[in-house]
Amino acid sequence: MVQSITLRRPDDMHLHLRDDAMLRTVLPYSVRQFARAIVMPNLKPPVTTVAAARAYRERILQALPAGSAFEPLMTCYLCDGTDAAEIEAGFKERVFTAVKLYPAGATTHSEYGVTGIDRIARVLDVMQELGMPLLIHGESTDPSVDVFDREAVFLDHTLKPLLDTFPALKVVLEHITTEQAANFVAADTSGRLAATITPQHLLFNRNAMFTGGLRPHYYCLPVLKREQHRLALRRVATSGSRAFFLGTDSAPHERGTKEAACGCAGIFSAPTALEAYLTVFDEEGALEHFEAFASENGRRFYGLPPNEGTVTLTRERINAPRSIALENGKSIETFMGGDELRWRLVDPSNA
Ligand code: DOR
Ligand code: ZN
Repeated sequence: MVQSITLRRPDDMHLHLRDDAMLRTVLPYSVRQFARAIVMPNLKPPVTTVAAARAYRERILQALPAGSAFEPLMTCYLCDGTDAAEIEAGFKERVFTAVKLYPAGATTHSEYGVTGIDRIARVLDVMQELGMPLLIHGESTDPSVDVFDREAVFLDHTLKPLLDTFPALKVVLEHITTEQAANFVAADTSGRLAATITPQHLLFNRNAMFTGGLRPHYYCLPVLKREQHRLALRRVATSGSRAFFLGTDSAPHERGTKEAACGCAGIFSAPTALEAYLTVFDEEGALEHFEAFASENGRRFYGLPPNEGTVTLTRERINAPRSIALENGKSIETFMGGDELRWRLVDPSNA
């Protein structure tokens, strides 16, 4: 049995870092695991301009632990009124790496999102021209659609027409959760369509939200699905296909805002993500494909150079930290907090 695995430093291709005190608290957990991250723009207010993204990037760099190296790759939050010239300028000035499309109302802080693809056609034309990736939260917002069907409906009603209308646009379907999405992305032969997959959607099905009672810390969007979908995600993630890569969607919320009458969506996986992903590849007998998923496929899709350096994980049983304290005395519950993990990320300083 393999006891240790060393891979090129990975990247987190979908991460929520928040801002201010929350940013200072959560950032070190990502920095410990990843060399770079695609940083989501759904702040309040959202990051919609080059100036805002530059300033946010600066705040992230200021919050880095001393001596650490980490590159935040910034994204622009797409609105109906987004000016294509702003996107182009941000990309050319190397401030924006990609643009994030939230259908209006689909998830946390998506109220300024897009109400129809026709509203953003000019921006998508320019992005297609530039080779700039569009990152999509792929869920239908039609209130008559069952919450568990929103991703599949989005594929048929929105994504397929979008891909046909913009045949060269690079698209990442973010945090896929269904067999339909897995098959849809796997069927693409052009190389311009890819998907990120979170650790929670590989490790848990929707029963996890209801085991013995309502479990808000397993609630995220898109919501966990039934077992058949989890198995499909595991198949494609561990298949060696270049179209699938690591994106944690680590999304911290204060405990009280999740354990509430109307709890927030989001799972804070940054402290345990790499260990959790590796468990999946180990269980699937696919350790040989782990490095591609974590460190190669994403950066290749984005046209980024490979990272320098490596990380090592060893086969050890450790308990995930249950929660992380915030500066204000509150806390964030951790993904798999208190559970036994079967791999341990070797701290570079003790390696
Ligand atoms: O669960 C989620 N949380 N899904 C998202 O799309 C957004 C995220 C957040 O920002 O909390
Ligand atoms: Zn997200």
